[in-house]
Amino acid sequence: RPSVWIRPDGAPLRVVAHRGASLVAPENTLVGDEAARRGGAWWIESDVQPSRDGVPHVLHDSTVDRTTDGRGAIRDLTAAELRGLDAGSWFGAQYAGQHLPTLAAQLEDLSTRGGNLLLEIKGPHTRRQVARIITEIRSHRMTDRVLVQSFDVNALRHTRELAPELALGLLRGTLDADPVAVSKELSLTSYNPSDAALADRPAVVGDLHDAGVAVTVWTVDTATRWRALLAAGVDAVITNRPAELSGWNAAR
Ligand code: G3P
Ligand code: CA
Repeated sequence: RPSVWIRPDGAPLRVVAHRGASLVAPENTLVGDEAARRGGAWWIESDVQPSRDGVPHVLHDSTVDRTTDGRGAIRDLTAAELRGLDAGSWFGAQYAGQHLPTLAAQLEDLSTRGGNLLLEIKGPHTRRQVARIITEIRSHRMTDRVLVQSFDVNALRHTRELAPELALGLLRGTLDADPVAVSKELSLTSYNPSDAALADRPAVVGDLHDAGVAVTVWTVDTATRWRALLAAGVDAVITNRPAELSGWNAAR
């Protein structure tokens, strides 16, 4: 299918808030998503991982140590244990009581308040774990408002098999020799290289567009690079500074 993710000529860069508005609010929390929306970003990037009892939760690190008042690997903690954690105080006292969200809670919040989700399946996932993520997306009727991305090709293969209707993105730290071939093989909506990777070969953007594949670049926080990516034809930018990128877009 043609990618609706491809930016029309003259349109601004699509702003994707990295872990929410993670410089001004605690990352991967609902208050962080709200801060991103207030800053003009209607796409939120989040990371999803299962708890010990298989419930998908929104968390970047493999442990809760850095971003909550708890300790331990998320895959060793139950949903009930995770529910009791404070995921806001580490960032600032005013955020005390923010939960580490379940994916269901985040989808519920986005479906009612607005916003779309660039959902990173973080780390290896079994087919069953991917199926649980898909069940949540479908039950919240968010399939048209989610793009699933991962560094893990197997997670994307599981997603494609289980949910052909979902848009997919492949995260890469270095460029593939032939990004178009890889994108076709995985039927990607978007190819998602790091900024450094794309800087080496910006011409691949045109090749991917010719193949109907969009390009989303991570994680870019300076106007110098936003300008270069816009000129290269990139469609979407994942940034820690969503309000600033929205303002930069509007000022152009
Ligand atoms: O969305 C891409 C980017 O988030 C990947 O890096 O470590 O922030 O998940 P990381
Ligand atoms: Ca991520």
